[in-house]
Amino acid sequence: MKNKIVNLLSEKIDFLTNDDISQLIEIPPKPEMGDFAFPCFRLAKELHKAPPVIAKEIADSITLPDYVDHVDIQGAYINFFLKKTGFVQSMVEAVSAEDFGASTEGNGKTICIDYSSPNVAKNFHVGHLRTTIIGNSLYKIYSKLGYKVERINHLGDWGTQFGKLIVAYKNWGDEQAIKEKGVEELMRLYVAFHNAAKENPELDDEARAWFNKMEQGNEEALKIWKWFVDISLTEYKRTYALLGLDFDHFTGESFYRNMTSDIVKKLTDANLLTESEGAKIVDLEEYNMAPCLILKNDGSSIYATRDLAAIFYRKNTYNFVKALYVTGQEQKLHFAQVFKVVELLGNEWAKDQLVHIPYGLVSLNGAKLATREGNVIYAEDILLEAISKIKKTIEEKNPNLEDKDEVARIVGVGAVIFNDLYNQRIKDVSFSWEKLLNFDGETGPYVQYTYARCSSILRKAGIPTDTYKVDLSNVDYSIITDEASVELLKEISRFPAVVKDASEKYEPFIVARFAVAVAQSFNKFYTVNRINVEDENIKNTRIALVKITRKVLKDALDLLGIGVVEEM
Ligand code: ARG
Repeated sequence: MKNKIVNLLSEKIDFLTNDDISQLIEIPPKPEMGDFAFPCFRLAKELHKAPPVIAKEIADSITLPDYVDHVDIQGAYINFFLKKTGFVQSMVEAVSAEDFGASTEGNGKTICIDYSSPNVAKNFHVGHLRTTIIGNSLYKIYSKLGYKVERINHLGDWGTQFGKLIVAYKNWGDEQAIKEKGVEELMRLYVAFHNAAKENPELDDEARAWFNKMEQGNEEALKIWKWFVDISLTEYKRTYALLGLDFDHFTGESFYRNMTSDIVKKLTDANLLTESEGAKIVDLEEYNMAPCLILKNDGSSIYATRDLAAIFYRKNTYNFVKALYVTGQEQKLHFAQVFKVVELLGNEWAKDQLVHIPYGLVSLNGAKLATREGNVIYAEDILLEAISKIKKTIEEKNPNLEDKDEVARIVGVGAVIFNDLYNQRIKDVSFSWEKLLNFDGETGPYVQYTYARCSSILRKAGIPTDTYKVDLSNVDYSIITDEASVELLKEISRFPAVVKDASEKYEPFIVARFAVAVAQSFNKFYTVNRINVEDENIKNTRIALVKITRKVLKDALDLLGIGVVEEM
């Protein structure tokens, strides 16, 4: 429909392209302002006339096609009122397509997303929860647009800290305690090392020696290290299972350990490496950045060296069109440096293909969250608590519900995810149980509840809910004239544009807001339109709208990494 309006206008305005016109066209905020509005401000310069005069001239010159009911001038705007039936029919047909919201723009292209990436032997904390949730949503969004996505977990599993842990384990470790308590015990050992090293600095030398052994491939060192990695991964995977997500590659920093010498060679050959106090760096003063450290004075590689190796590995292996890195803002400089070094090595693509995607903090003020030893908060505990709180609510409100545990998991976890994704990434996330678990309000449970309401309406009408196919053969478009129905359809129609916008800005919140808007629109529709009515014509038509809403809510939630339940 919008394209038809664009074509109509382009016949009258020869100095704007169809794309220009399309971008100028607005969807008015209120129905009394029409279905599409075209502002004439931009035309004033070329035509040397006041915008309202231009609006009137264009409007007068248009011969109305059969799908336009009338046009109306309001100031500088030409408002188009479409014939309801034609407009409604084209919307219904578009939104009920099976792949509505999907596109083929990414076909044949690969995007790497580096996210989650917790640090081995450390707890999976709330910050890692954010990168995990945001990264997973971006994965879903890009997949919807046809891209092949490589989900990469760049575990922090290499570095001097593992030398320290080995020393600590050898001195004060207990195999059984580690088997039982996992990461919590590894963290205790790490703290124990630091306390002891304050008294006895020789421990630091020992730790360096052990890490050196790891880098040399020493069997004993690698065996202990590998055990720490496995213990930690088992725990992280429990959190991933609760979230219902997975990765294509658990290739941590250690994966690139033998590729760092090649980076050093590349940099040396390109004359980019300089020596500074025994260390090797790339000077970035010209770009107003601190130098990028490549090798420490003992010759060992660091975080940045392994990130450089990872970029070349991924470019060669996946030939990505984009590589995204989802981490906290505090790593902004790190990525700016690393990306610059790649570019300086003669890779122009680094400029627009390597993207750091930062996010804000989680502010826990007020929220009572369970802590483990040392007052540490685990993401797993937050999710488990959300699940148990939802389970309580379900037990009060709907005690006979089947699969209570699975419903509580989907809704509890969904609530945490939704709260995380409801605002721009860079904003801090405030954490309040009351707010995020609320069944009405702008929350995950509210959207899920609306979905479940759609399912329940269908069940009551005897319509199978095991399919999302919408059959339009019984729909009578001429009865979809009330404002609530038309507004609902208009809201749903935005989905493809919403997905595209979210992908371009790397902002899942755009999808989250859309889901809430559709749910609100549906609930308005539902309060004014009875569905299970005598008149088969009306009933079938309204049921089609319920089915369309149900499908788009499921699809939108899925893009956020949130599941749906048929009853809650
Ligand atoms: N392990 C790091 C951390 O927890 C995040 C790694 C991000 N990815 C990367 N390629 N540097 O802070």
